[in-house]
Amino acid sequence: MTDAAAAPDTETAPARKLFIKTYGCQMNAHDSERMAETMAQEGYALTADPAEADLILLNTCHIREKAAEKVYSELGRLRPLKQARPGLRIGVAGCVAQAEGAEILERAPLVDLVVGSQAFHRLPELVRAAQEGARPVETDFPAEDKFAALPGRAGGRPTAFLTVQEGCDKFCAFCVVPYTRGAEMSRPVARILEEAQALADRGVREVMLLGQNVNAWHGVGPAGDEWGLGRLIEAVAGIEGIARIRYTTSHPNDFTDDLIAAHRDQPKLMPYLHLPVQSGSDRILKAMNRRHTGAEYLALLDRIRAARPDILLSGDFIVGFPGETEADFEATLEMVRAARYGAAYSFKYSPRPGTPAAEAPPVDPAVADERLYRLQALITEQQQAAQAAMVGRECEVLFEKPGREPGQWTGKSPWLQAVHATGADLGPGQIRRVRITQALPNSLTAELIDTPAA
Ligand code: SAH
Ligand code: SF4
Ligand code: F3S
Repeated sequence: MTDAAAAPDTETAPARKLFIKTYGCQMNAHDSERMAETMAQEGYALTADPAEADLILLNTCHIREKAAEKVYSELGRLRPLKQARPGLRIGVAGCVAQAEGAEILERAPLVDLVVGSQAFHRLPELVRAAQEGARPVETDFPAEDKFAALPGRAGGRPTAFLTVQEGCDKFCAFCVVPYTRGAEMSRPVARILEEAQALADRGVREVMLLGQNVNAWHGVGPAGDEWGLGRLIEAVAGIEGIARIRYTTSHPNDFTDDLIAAHRDQPKLMPYLHLPVQSGSDRILKAMNRRHTGAEYLALLDRIRAARPDILLSGDFIVGFPGETEADFEATLEMVRAARYGAAYSFKYSPRPGTPAAEAPPVDPAVADERLYRLQALITEQQQAAQAAMVGRECEVLFEKPGREPGQWTGKSPWLQAVHATGADLGPGQIRRVRITQALPNSLTAELIDTPAA
């Protein structure tokens, strides 16, 4: 596989085209980037048009039934392409691949290969096998380090994901992630810092440290001492060029003092926190196997806000979990009011095969829909208030890409809000001081109030 003589000559061979469609979470988005980097080494260039692709990969999500079923409807839409181009190979990657494996080949005859979320570093050999007419399925959790087998990181953008932790041992009663992503695993300090340095060398200004349970990350520092995520963030902050650090997703039970301290002491750590609680009812939290109460969650928020008062909180909620009564749901609304979210995602419970909660009798779907509607109305109200409160404030924005209007650029505030500003000298990777002039539902408009460094 690493035999240089077998590698295509990318300078003279016409590039083959790869189309990737990504579903699900940021980890999946990141995996898609890494798959593209892996296949680039094999001479595949990314295309945005599936009709011209030689290889189509669907990087799938299994978290809710709707997400998983999308894959099959997408495969249906791809059928004419496959008929028009017999050389086209179609692969299913990610969490549906991990969960369903060879079943996918049975259900969807046009699929040529299946690769699970822990084995995509093996894509080149799987694609080659598929080209030779095999229909390989790779859903093992290989013993070797996937990251060591992946090529170096591509550059070109001011922000990048960096995986520090994968998998989950929490086994929340509703969730497939422990099955699709496997056991909790922390990458070693040295590997993470090397990758962060490589990203900085390529001009990356902001890194998003990724993990299914990112704050469960732990490692051993160069001096042999135990590190938690807070200490790791300090080390990443020491890399020149890295101006901003974020992390996602955290679990309340793994929130250690060193991470809270990093929010207080490390200015490069951005004041945004995604900390899902799922429900405000202790009875439901217990049934969900969350192993914390609503009061414990709120007490944790108090400690985090004492360290970093301006933190913008985000969360996830599930409504209609089996056994949820109107009183349980009211407790969730109460939790949202008490916790004060700047952003939050809410989902109707979806029973997932193989998870403990899937056995329990469901809540009436009409009742669950109505609760979801009420919860989303409250969350939207809080989000709009957080957006409106930005008007008149000054902050720094990391600009990432051109906006829709001429001369306009789009970037992110420290609180992860999209910000648009116009300036002849604006460009990607610039961190500029702005004053927010207008709040829209999903973005902010700002004026530049600095002059760029020469
Ligand atoms: N690791 C993260 C989240 C993983 S999944 C964490 O622990 O928070 C992202 C979100 O999807 C979850 O926070 C939960 O709100 C939602 N989710 C997971 N399983 C679900 C299910 N079976 N039905 C509905 N929503 C679900
Ligand atoms: Fe799923 Fe719970 Fe693990 Fe999050 S902590 S990935 S919700 S099992
Ligand atoms: Fe979905 Fe897998 Fe992420 S199930 S949410 S893509 S870890």
